[in-house]
Amino acid sequence: MIVERGANRFVNADCVSAALEYLADGSVDLIVTDPPYGIGGDELHKHYNRDERFVVEGYVEVDARRYAEFSRAWIAQAERVLRPGGQIYVVSGYTNLPDVLNALRATTLREVNHIIWKYNFGVYTSRKFVSSHYHILYYAKPGSPRTFNLECRFARDERADGGGSSSYRDREDVWTINREYKPGRKKNKNELPIALLEKMLLYSSNEGDLVCDFFMGGGSTAVACVGLNRRFAGFEVSPHIFRDVLGAVDRAAPGGLLAEPAKRGAVVENRGKRWSSGDVRAVLERYDELAATGAAKKRIVGALATEFGRGPWAIAKVIKDRA
Ligand SMILES: C[S@@+](CC[C@H](N)C(=O)[O-])C[C@H]1O[C@@H](n2cnc3c(N)ncnc32)[C@H](O)[C@@H]1O
Repeated sequence: MIVERGANRFVNADCVSAALEYLADGSVDLIVTDPPYGIGGDELHKHYNRDERFVVEGYVEVDARRYAEFSRAWIAQAERVLRPGGQIYVVSGYTNLPDVLNALRATTLREVNHIIWKYNFGVYTSRKFVSSHYHILYYAKPGSPRTFNLECRFARDERADGGGSSSYRDREDVWTINREYKPGRKKNKNELPIALLEKMLLYSSNEGDLVCDFFMGGGSTAVACVGLNRRFAGFEVSPHIFRDVLGAVDRAAPGGLLAEPAKRGAVVENRGKRWSSGDVRAVLERYDELAATGAAKKRIVGALATEFGRGPWAIAKVIKDRA
């Protein structure tokens, strides 16, 4: 099934057959995608701290024994549809990373960067280090210059706290970006934060460019594209998950992310706002969830302040008042 919304296209089908049917050679400016990891989708909650009650059903996983062949098939299509100078970001876990790398290296695509995305609150472990990162493989198709918008988020002379260059810091290949916390709202397994997608889209595409996601999941790439005025084409094989994508896209404000300050998280957006009982409950529930990971209270308070857009003192008081 294909659904068109203005310049955007959403296809409920396997990405390889959908790419063959709907995307011409050299027609895509940028691919941002996050394939299933081949680690058993039903087990994903063991890899992230998360309340599974709100996770959308229907996630289609790939058998680990087929992962190499699966990666070669979709990456060959990605190579075909990218224009010369077009780019691709692939988010990958560690387990099947060699298969993804081998598949990319079997194409004409060239590595630009191997980025590490560090997120908050990996799974707590006591006898080994806590896993709290993903790999992002950033490649480009040769034959034409790549889009790389050097000053899309920070001017070259802008200074960060402590005096260093904000632009330099933003362009280091380790990105620390927190996962989004959506209390009581449905989300897809491994839904990527909009801030992460926004960063790739701003650096590597321009308004009006065609961006494609081969594995849409809950549609976060599509939502970021609507918010940044990029055209979008995406595929999702699960009918159940596909239904939710369209709702998420319809709720997104076209161009809405362009008006926002690029430095997300710098503003304490709810400071001074009255606390409802629902706000308090959401903070306490999230606190309990994070406390179960074994993280220190101070660290949790800092994370909650970012997630809820409140000052750390206000968060600490809510926790103290419950005791
Ligand atoms: C890791 S999730 C993507 C999550 C997404 N980035 C988000 O933020 O919601 C991978 C998605 O690929 C879907 N999928 C699995 N095999 C597929 C295939 N052959 N073609 C298209 N989608 C597929 C899964 O159902 C799942 O929703």
